[in-house]
Amino acid sequence: MSNFGETTTTDEVLEGMDISGKRVFITGGNSGLGLETGRAMAARGAHVILAGRDQAKLDEAVASIESENPDAIVETIICDLGSLDSVRHCGETARNRFESIDILINNAGVMACPKMQTADGFEMQFGTNHVGHFLLTKELMPLIGKGRDKRIVNLSSRGHHIAPANLDDPNFEHTDYDPWLSYGQSKTANILFTVGLEDRFADKGIHAYAVHPGGIQTNLGRHMTEEESAALVKRVTENDPDFSWKTIPQGAATQTWAATAPEIEGKGGVYCEDCHIAEIDDESSKGGVRSYALDKGNADRLWALSEQLVGERFAA
Ligand SMILES: NC(=O)c1ccc[n+]([C@@H]2O[C@H](COP(=O)([O-])OP(=O)(O)OC[C@H]3O[C@@H](n4cnc5c(N)ncnc54)[C@H](OP(=O)(O)O)[C@@H]3O)[C@@H](O)[C@H]2O)c1
Repeated sequence: MSNFGETTTTDEVLEGMDISGKRVFITGGNSGLGLETGRAMAARGAHVILAGRDQAKLDEAVASIESENPDAIVETIICDLGSLDSVRHCGETARNRFESIDILINNAGVMACPKMQTADGFEMQFGTNHVGHFLLTKELMPLIGKGRDKRIVNLSSRGHHIAPANLDDPNFEHTDYDPWLSYGQSKTANILFTVGLEDRFADKGIHAYAVHPGGIQTNLGRHMTEEESAALVKRVTENDPDFSWKTIPQGAATQTWAATAPEIEGKGGVYCEDCHIAEIDDESSKGGVRSYALDKGNADRLWALSEQLVGERFAA
């Protein structure tokens, strides 16, 4: 096992690793952890595809990677996860442009926004963080099946401790909306999706990993006022007196590790934090994964619901 932990950075994870030529598709690739993951992987020769919903932001992201590494192989693709049409169009474009994808990192996310809806009428956090990625993964599966690594990394969060996924009312049609409850439920869904993928695709050599990156100051907090941010930090430090912010390279390290580490090959369907596989823990607020997020029955129910919402089967 590696000595990696809380303060390990992306570059440290990849040190000495040959990832040249690997094709890595990263959603939310224009900002924060996605951009840093793309930068670090491109620096070691990977072929990076940054997906995002705004071409100008994607161009800026590519320029920032190329300014550090003029030889970087970085492409962009438009994908608005809040629109099933956009996700399908992205899938079709990707299948026309690429022969295979080695690693898919479902990294994009929205946190604690006011009650809003996606283009298809799903509650924004559930719709973007889970449903959009569910359909995108289905769209890209033919390419992942032809890839060498066949890994899928789903960004979750310790926020999944807030609540199980509410599969009876995922879009808050009958439940009072709470931005953190919604975020927590969507991040539980990211882990259940990981379990569902592993269950259906492991026998094809495709493995899925969920990740909590840590607490990192990125654009994710854009929907919070200063008072709300301060209240969040207070809450987090009360729960975990040892809490400290990670830098962006430290925050992106666990997803980079989950995407590449040889020691977890074939061991998918798990939740990782601080560059290791977390234990099940239904009590601690300092770490670990809740058992409801790894429950196969919940994962199957979410899978069936997601198929119904996107109107398509997604099975092996
Ligand atoms: N930062 C943390 O402390 C932390 C902790 C736990 C988990 N996470 C998870 O880590 C992941 C990355 O977050 P981050 O901290 O890097 O935040 P970030 O800097 O805000 O990046 C989020 C990315 O998601 C994209 N995105 C949002 N809505 C989208 C949509 N409808 N379609 C396509 N892309 C969309 C954003 O694109 P735009 O720029 O166009 O909005 C941005 O590229 C998220 O899944 C988050 O839940 C972060």
